[in-house]
Amino acid sequence: MGDDTLTDPVHGGLRNEVRDRFVAVNGDHAMSSEDDAYVREHFVEAPPGATRLMLDGRLPLPSYVLGDGTAMVPADHGRLAELAGGLDRLHDWFVAFWEGDEAAGEREWQAYLSGQHAGLREVSPVRIRQVAERVAEARAALDLLRRDPHDPIGRGMLGEAVDGVIAVPGLDAMLLPMTAYDRLRAGGPTIRERWVDAPRAAYLTPAPPVWPLRTERLLLRPHELGDADAFVTAWGSEEWTSLLLSRPMNRAEVVEMVRRRTERGDGTFLGLAVTTLDGTVVGDSILHLQGTGLSEAEIGWTVLPEHAGRGYATEAARAVLRLGFEHYGLRRIMANLDVRNERSAALCERLGMRREVHRIADFWSKGEWTSSYEYALLREEWRAARG
Ligand SMILES: CC(C)(COP(=O)(O)OP(=O)(O)OC[C@H]1O[C@@H](n2cnc3c(N)ncnc32)[C@H](O)[C@@H]1OP(=O)(O)O)[C@@H](O)C(=O)NCCC(=O)NCCS
Repeated sequence: MGDDTLTDPVHGGLRNEVRDRFVAVNGDHAMSSEDDAYVREHFVEAPPGATRLMLDGRLPLPSYVLGDGTAMVPADHGRLAELAGGLDRLHDWFVAFWEGDEAAGEREWQAYLSGQHAGLREVSPVRIRQVAERVAEARAALDLLRRDPHDPIGRGMLGEAVDGVIAVPGLDAMLLPMTAYDRLRAGGPTIRERWVDAPRAAYLTPAPPVWPLRTERLLLRPHELGDADAFVTAWGSEEWTSLLLSRPMNRAEVVEMVRRRTERGDGTFLGLAVTTLDGTVVGDSILHLQGTGLSEAEIGWTVLPEHAGRGYATEAARAVLRLGFEHYGLRRIMANLDVRNERSAALCERLGMRREVHRIADFWSKGEWTSSYEYALLREEWRAARG
């Protein structure tokens, strides 16, 4: 079919007309073979029947025209007309999403018809509105974060704009990857580069602190492979691991756990060795950044049995809280623990954390449904407690 329309003078003429209209909207920029491959991956060839409808302003112009002149449209190009109850109803159905602001509805309809939403995974009025809302939210967030990169409102807004919150989709999920051609027609960065990639790099990518952290008696630093030896006995003990999610591990498994923790990853998970000032490993600590705008983290700790009861876990945790609030600008740090873990609960209380949640039989651990506590501390509470 594609080849027939290429050689058929009637269709060929229409094709040129579509291309001319496309160039009038987007400018005359060359599509490279990489651009063509990207478009073939995410779009489909416009069916011959759609050409006339595109030219008559009843269906959107192509999202792309390949180097060989093939018009490409989203796979669901005609789907909105079906949802609207037919092509004749499409316009009224579409603009109704901007009820109360007819001018905006008409503007959006024209943008839709001109194929300007090529960067959206799903081209629909709901998505067009959501993308516009999320871009406005990202813009407002960046204004706040430029003044204070730890501004909690800015972090929340940017997190929602980029990654979404529960049922609110973020730009990262709503936008396609896009291609170099999109940069040419935008005359600058693509919508994804501007509102997902750049803000993520600037404000949603944790930067490593300067190691080690030093306290009165301890050093905290990212794990090194050699740390494994110190953990083998404790992590292999049924009793010591009884209130942890992990089962007792043999030496090879402990070595592998430590090795994994040494992998840098995306910087959201910190696995730290806690040592005395002379380098003796006394325990470990974790901080896992998460939540909207990476503004929250879960903290975790262990102290080896031979070093327990001396306040090392408390001292190390205080340093990790400080790292979280001051360096990472976190808004909230929480800990989850088995309710039977009295020593861990006592540690939370010593740190000034608040028991916010007592979940009953909420998680499965080692053959039984187990209850848990969630303790948490907000940045302002932590600051106030430090005076
Ligand atoms: C949870 C865990 C880290 C708590 O260890 P811990 O030894 O009780 O905690 P610390 O190192 O902070 O030591 C506190 C104790 O030292 C005492 N202490 C002595 N010197 C101290 C000092 N300078 N500062 C503070 N406390 C001091 C405290 O009074 C306290 O003792 P107490 O509980 O008898 O009153 C430890 O039990 C553990 O690793 N358990 C196994 C793994 C685990 O369950 N991890 C937690 C998963 S949620």
